[in-house]
Amino acid sequence: MSQNKEKLKEKITEALQGGGEKRIAKQHEKKKLTARERVDYLLDEGSFEEIGILVTHRTTDFGMENETYYGDGVVTGYGTINGRLVYVFAQDFTVFGGSLSETHAEKICKVMDHAMKVGAPIIGLNDSGGARIQEGVKSLGGYADIFYRNVQASGVIPQISAIMGPCAGGAVYSPAMTDFTLMVQDTSYMFVTGPNVVKTVTNESVTSEELGGASTHSTKSGVTHITSANDISCLEDIKKLLSYIPQNNRETTHKLDYELGDEVRENLEGIVPDSSSKPYDMHEVIKGIIDENSFFEVHKNYADNIIVGFARLGGRSIGIVANQPMSLAGVLDVNSSKKAARFTRFCDCFNIPLLVLVDVPGFLPGTDQEWNGIILHGAKLLYALSEATVPRVTVITRKAYGGAYDVMNSKHIGADLNFAWPSAEIAVMGAKGASEIIFRKEIQEAKNPEVKLSEKEAEYAEKFANPFKAAQRGFIDEVIMPKETRRKLLKAFSMLENKKVERIDRKHGNIPL
Ligand code: COA
Repeated sequence: MSQNKEKLKEKITEALQGGGEKRIAKQHEKKKLTARERVDYLLDEGSFEEIGILVTHRTTDFGMENETYYGDGVVTGYGTINGRLVYVFAQDFTVFGGSLSETHAEKICKVMDHAMKVGAPIIGLNDSGGARIQEGVKSLGGYADIFYRNVQASGVIPQISAIMGPCAGGAVYSPAMTDFTLMVQDTSYMFVTGPNVVKTVTNESVTSEELGGASTHSTKSGVTHITSANDISCLEDIKKLLSYIPQNNRETTHKLDYELGDEVRENLEGIVPDSSSKPYDMHEVIKGIIDENSFFEVHKNYADNIIVGFARLGGRSIGIVANQPMSLAGVLDVNSSKKAARFTRFCDCFNIPLLVLVDVPGFLPGTDQEWNGIILHGAKLLYALSEATVPRVTVITRKAYGGAYDVMNSKHIGADLNFAWPSAEIAVMGAKGASEIIFRKEIQEAKNPEVKLSEKEAEYAEKFANPFKAAQRGFIDEVIMPKETRRKLLKAFSMLENKKVERIDRKHGNIPL
């Protein structure tokens, strides 16, 4: 008996050493924390309970029976973040390069299953050389077991992936199916095939960083939602992200008590310029509406013609989707549509109310957009918003033109309350373009076509470049002064708190992918 107690102590000591001092030093040299250091930093002090610390692999090929490490390259268990239960797995690069064996996968699946049963978020800290090469197909099966669980858990519990080292080959598909992927600048990369294979197949020469580093995935591909400067800030970002999100799809987010004050925000008045072609920063509008310093932007450097992120409004967590006139005049294109659709769907899965801020001149024209399927991608956003049953409120700050008016959370697709500022222009298209088409003959026949065009433009603008026609029809519920926006939204979201929508029974919809 006492012998076993000694044995247990020895085993635990050995397990805590991972792949040993040398490999730990190597990890630190690369400016990376070890798996255990990461878990310790992520979770509330002393809250971590490990599951499966004594698991070892079962491989006997290539002399592997003589090389085993407790834990088999992944630290798994549960703990709390700001007092809330989470499950976590952290791949240990010091043990077989964090590569995924059959048993390593079983450990991950075990905590995923727990998280699903209990209804708590699962966080994966990825740092792995991929499939355990000595195991072959068994490790591929392990990946698929995880992928399958990712899909079952989708929309039930929040799933967060941090890429804190290599993540290559099939391994990329688990993070890709989770809700949010974070990457650490300079020390992480993700790709389906690495630079050597790329060189062989396509003859392109590219570094790992160029091919799949954090900068690439946060700007070009959109694979990563958040880029963090180092391990510590990545773990901090995870904690912050979680603070806006409920534990599972049956819960709503925690709301801090809030007493309505005067809530008038004068600084919202001067943001939209007089000239409708002048840009302004929609972040300023967001800042003016939400609780101080509460904006957590997602996908910041990708498709920046649309802004998405979480914020608090009177202590309540909300999701914001907002056109950004500073970039491409806030137009909707392939990438911005995908970005906003994905975010909308996340918020809808997890009962996070949506605020949509609109200043959109339409969809981006051109062969590039058409050939890349703007029709299908724009439809994704239309679909995502149309099917969202969370409270949905819209504020049109300036332009809401054409089909993009419909898409951006219009009343017609189920928005609950639609506000517009007096600067709103709600029309089929801009006054100049519209006049050139409908008054073409008159303009051509005029003595001075240019003067005629501006006359007609003014006439059209007078009629349509305002929010009043839409308000007359009830497409806009209220035209409000910008300074009143925060107050109106606080009351609107509070009124909508108990919103319930019965969905038609069906297996699932068929979103245009
Ligand atoms: N299976 C088994 N062991 C692996 C492994 C894998 N997929 N990937 C790495 N390792 C081991 C290495 O053998 C090494 O072991 P050691 O500490 O006993 O020497 C250790 O992990 C660290 O690997 P190393 O190559 O020294 O680290 P690195 O930082 O220089 O390179 C990688 C990291 C991921 C680029 C590199 O290890 C690699 O290319 N791995 C293989 C990737 C792959 O093809 N995976 C299979 C397909 S998904």
